[in-house]
Amino acid sequence: MRDIALAVIGGTGLYKLADLRDVQAHEPDTRFGRASGPVRVGMLGGHRVAFLARHGEGHSVPPHRINYRANLAALQALGATRVLALNTVGGITERFGPRVLACPDQLIDYTWGRVSTLCEEPGTDVLHVDFGEPYTASLRADVVAAAVSAGVPLVDGGCYGATQGPRLETRAEIARMRRDGCDLVGMTGMPEAGLAREMGLDYACLAIVANWAAGAGPQVDEVITLQDVLDNVEAASAHLPALLGALLDRWSEGAQ
Ligand code: HPA
Repeated sequence: MRDIALAVIGGTGLYKLADLRDVQAHEPDTRFGRASGPVRVGMLGGHRVAFLARHGEGHSVPPHRINYRANLAALQALGATRVLALNTVGGITERFGPRVLACPDQLIDYTWGRVSTLCEEPGTDVLHVDFGEPYTASLRADVVAAAVSAGVPLVDGGCYGATQGPRLETRAEIARMRRDGCDLVGMTGMPEAGLAREMGLDYACLAIVANWAAGAGPQVDEVITLQDVLDNVEAASAHLPALLGALLDRWSEGAQ
């Protein structure tokens, strides 16, 4: 059995993993500095699972200031090889309304000014990793299959547009993203996915739709409130234990 079967990174509204047992907190110091908070390692359905709250456990780190490199390096240092990124997002196209769970297969990066590579420091080897398929196909396939076996509704595919935040988008920005082909919008999908590829981690995104993106819903001038976001994330997250349980079961000893 692998040391840590799965590392989960929680996004907005997801600051701990329900049902994680015998939890130990680690604060690994990485070559990139400190992670957003402690990595909590415990047992979930007989598997070792690591959890890290991307924005910190008190949601104190905004998307553009997250030390994405340290977060991933901390998980890797603890032995994680697979990362499931939980991302709270807005929905842009029809199939991605509030409370939908989705496993996107593409992304577009609109972020700027973030440290987005391992080769930032002078003297480090320059990497040009393949990123045509930004999420690990085998991990995505396992997530989708786990959802089917657990009876959890999940949209297979979609394009995640990563914006800078922390403000939400204008209607014109969302209209442009729709024309670009984005189905979902969030603020933390990049550089995390690109860094995971550079680090050789298996990485997939489980997007939790919290709201219609600006102007995308049936009521065009609807104001997005934090309370709606949190309520919808909480409701959709009710499916997470079943989905994670089914995912971990797929990797039970002998089936790796
Ligand atoms: N835009 C960007 N990020 C988000 C949104 C949104 O509408 N909802 C939740 N995260």
